[in-house]
Amino acid sequence: MNADSDYQKRIEEALRDPKNLGELAGADAVGTAGSAACGDMIRLWIKFKEEAGKKVVDRATFQSFGCETAIAVASLATEMIRGKTPEEVLALSAEELAPGLGPLPPVKIHCTQLVESALRSALEPQPAPPPPSAAPAIAPSLVDKFTQASQPAGKLKVILLETDANRPELTRRRE
Ligand code: FES
Repeated sequence: MNADSDYQKRIEEALRDPKNLGELAGADAVGTAGSAACGDMIRLWIKFKEEAGKKVVDRATFQSFGCETAIAVASLATEMIRGKTPEEVLALSAEELAPGLGPLPPVKIHCTQLVESALRSALEPQPAPPPPSAAPAIAPSLVDKFTQASQPAGKLKVILLETDANRPELTRRRE
């Protein structure tokens, strides 16, 4: 048996009864990753529970718009991360997420990385939004200036123009 057929056998084995398929209602975290290499996509849902004072993965599920390898890896990964803290999951390499599959052909490595990226997307702390003062300054529009409540009353100067109906070019300021 050559390496390719051995790999195919292991994938088929993993796909015979894929685990944790579908959306997880009430999930605490959701992560999505797409592969630029093939256009495939994986979404993962994760629910946590408290165990011995630690937050650990209670359940993880996935949807895949991807190849069989990605489905097999996601199925194995969602099983093996149960009971792990987010930090422990993030410390796993792509290969460690699906140890049952053994070595993958080089063209299939990105399928494992797709699952790893979806996990990172779900579990890595999201950067805080920039504080309002860090937002780029935008000059207020004329409408903003007119509608600003803080605009001091009596500071607006209205200039009326007089127009001679017969000589509109002679419009002049009325002081
Ligand atoms: Fe794209 Fe497997 S070929 S995820």
